[in-house]
Amino acid sequence: MKLEGRIAIVTGAARGIGYACARRFAEEGAKVVLADIDGDTLRSAVDSLVAEGFEAVAQTADVSRYSDLQTLVDAAVAQFGRLDIMVNNAGIARTQDFMTISEEDYDAVLGVNLRGAFFGLQIAARAMIAAGNGGVIINMSSINSRMANPSVATYAISKGGLNQVTSTAAVALIPHGIRVVGIGPGTIATDMLNMGFLTNEAQRKMILSRTPSGRLGEAEEVAAVAAFLASDDASYIVGQTIFVDGGRMI
Ligand code: NAI
Repeated sequence: MKLEGRIAIVTGAARGIGYACARRFAEEGAKVVLADIDGDTLRSAVDSLVAEGFEAVAQTADVSRYSDLQTLVDAAVAQFGRLDIMVNNAGIARTQDFMTISEEDYDAVLGVNLRGAFFGLQIAARAMIAAGNGGVIINMSSINSRMANPSVATYAISKGGLNQVTSTAAVALIPHGIRVVGIGPGTIATDMLNMGFLTNEAQRKMILSRTPSGRLGEAEEVAAVAAFLASDDASYIVGQTIFVDGGRMI
């Protein structure tokens, strides 16, 4: 098991990619703290892991709130003694007409996807430095971090910024033995696709025609890469965002 005894937090873990990451980490031997703003779905997700014998706890948190992130990291350390892996996965998207993007939309999307990940990283890194064992921080980016798509402009801007958080923080934190890396999923079959990415047959055809693999990705395929990146097998991968996209970006 690649992650035996490691302590991991995954945000946005009530469903989708975050849940798949938490489950895969647990299967690899980690003790996992699942965090999400949707407390009810989160609790049933954690209950199902615990029922299968995994060590998992739930912490309701809104990652756009600094105090929630601090409470989340404090809770993980209080429960398990330290923190080894942080996955800043929670994300939202809003479709917008570029010229009428509102301040509210802009702040909401960047508040979760960029601000939430930045402070999640910073607070987690402080706990890792205090424990002195290093760690791994994974930021969940997107192919949209590199593609210009005005209909999801705020989402694309937030993920582009997140890639820069990953590389900048990687340089700042590697002296402490903390590896910061990113994952850029392509179109993965989760609830997020309803947020404007895949809402009709024409969009599906367009996406599949531009995806060499000819299919959508599964959350478990992203989680497998997260488990690899979180493990010592990826010990020399620092600051990169790895695309898991069926070939979409090539
Ligand atoms: P999802 O919509 O299925 O799950 C996202 C989870 O994040 C939900 O459980 C939601 O309640 C939670 N969340 C939303 N706002 C939150 C907040 N403020 N605080 C805490 N939790 C919050 O989405 P999915 O697909 O699992 O996405 C996970 C990550 O992967 C996101 O960062 C997304 O941008 C990224 N991604 C997803 C892709 C896809 O095709 N599904 C493609 C590229 C990136």
